[in-house]
Amino acid sequence: MISFDFNTYNDTNIATLKNKKEELISKLYNDKMSGFINNIIDDNEVNRIIDISNKIKENSDILIVIGIGGSFMGSFAISEMFKNHFKKKDTELIYLGTNLSTNYLLEVIDYIKDKDVTLNVISKSGTTLEVSLVYKIIKTELEKKYSNEELKSRIIITTDKENGKLREEAINNSYTSFEIPSDIGGRYSLITAAHLLPLAVANINIKDLIAGYKKGIDLIDKAYIYASNRIELFKKKKYIENFSVYQDNLYYYTEWIKQLFGESEGKNNLGIFPVSTVNTRDLHSLGQFIQEGNNIIFETVIKVEKDNDLKINNTSLNELNNIVINSVCRAHKKGNTPSVIISLDKLTIENIGMLSMFFMLSAVFSSYLFGVNPYNQPGVEEYKKEVKLHIDSNL
Ligand code: PA5
Repeated sequence: MISFDFNTYNDTNIATLKNKKEELISKLYNDKMSGFINNIIDDNEVNRIIDISNKIKENSDILIVIGIGGSFMGSFAISEMFKNHFKKKDTELIYLGTNLSTNYLLEVIDYIKDKDVTLNVISKSGTTLEVSLVYKIIKTELEKKYSNEELKSRIIITTDKENGKLREEAINNSYTSFEIPSDIGGRYSLITAAHLLPLAVANINIKDLIAGYKKGIDLIDKAYIYASNRIELFKKKKYIENFSVYQDNLYYYTEWIKQLFGESEGKNNLGIFPVSTVNTRDLHSLGQFIQEGNNIIFETVIKVEKDNDLKINNTSLNELNNIVINSVCRAHKKGNTPSVIISLDKLTIENIGMLSMFFMLSAVFSSYLFGVNPYNQPGVEEYKKEVKLHIDSNL
């Protein structure tokens, strides 16, 4: 269950935005990229993902996941959220492809030498530079260990159904493959094989995640109110939104949220710049700025009402954490930094599915209200064009 506290906002100011609600809900459902709500994965595909994840868990010490941006952030964030830091998993996940730095890659190459590995490369376009290069490097390592026949199940390609170099690669080598539907964009692809396969290998119950995600559609009104609030705050020169969490296992989830909002609405010289803090750590750092610095920030706080139980002198640590959250919100409000509080009754996979749908809907509505296309990222192409001018096109 998820509840919302929008109390710090003045509702009457957003009346005009509220009038647009029905129009924008209909725009959302009719958008050609609305697959994340209109084309939710079917049971056969989910079962195939689970079957293949079970095979990976049986025959691999490591699953290497190669992807970047919306093709990696969701599964990485959720697997980090639910992992046990000290118990070793049966199959370890290693994420690559998010940079071109050498040292870590060399360490990975050395680490996998005497281990059984499956590789899942994920790219909707099939042309993303970082992903293509790292894929070639790791594939070369796997070719040293396995026959072409064995690679057919050890290399798994998740990409567009028909287009792109990776689809060709899958067809030419008969590699196992999954499709990212054409009507679902990278950062909206959480409930596709792009994220569900790594998550299933990470022992996340993907059926619960999907169930929560579907329930999240019922939060469409709340998502619209939240988006309207964001726009109203932007008009009041609140140009930065701080996504604030109080459990460190939510840190990468705030990275997912930042990618979702940043790439969706940051266009045409508009948008709210997303940042994040993990508290109480950052109360002793950026907290000073949020309280008394340049007054351009508002906050969205994700609160977990009931965590596991740990008591100090009969008082629950979780309750103390929640007292701190409420106190910080009050203090920040006095410093003219208002907050929305989004409360999960518990940190469950189903709740995270719901919350993720809520944020995706909000990102689309916010982008529509800014008058920009939520699903493209023309600005990202600019750096790619520059890079292409300077590197060998055969790479
Ligand atoms: O959210 C997005 O659409 C982007 O961040 C993409 O996911 C990212 O650029 C990777 O693209 P691709 O999956 O085509 O490699």
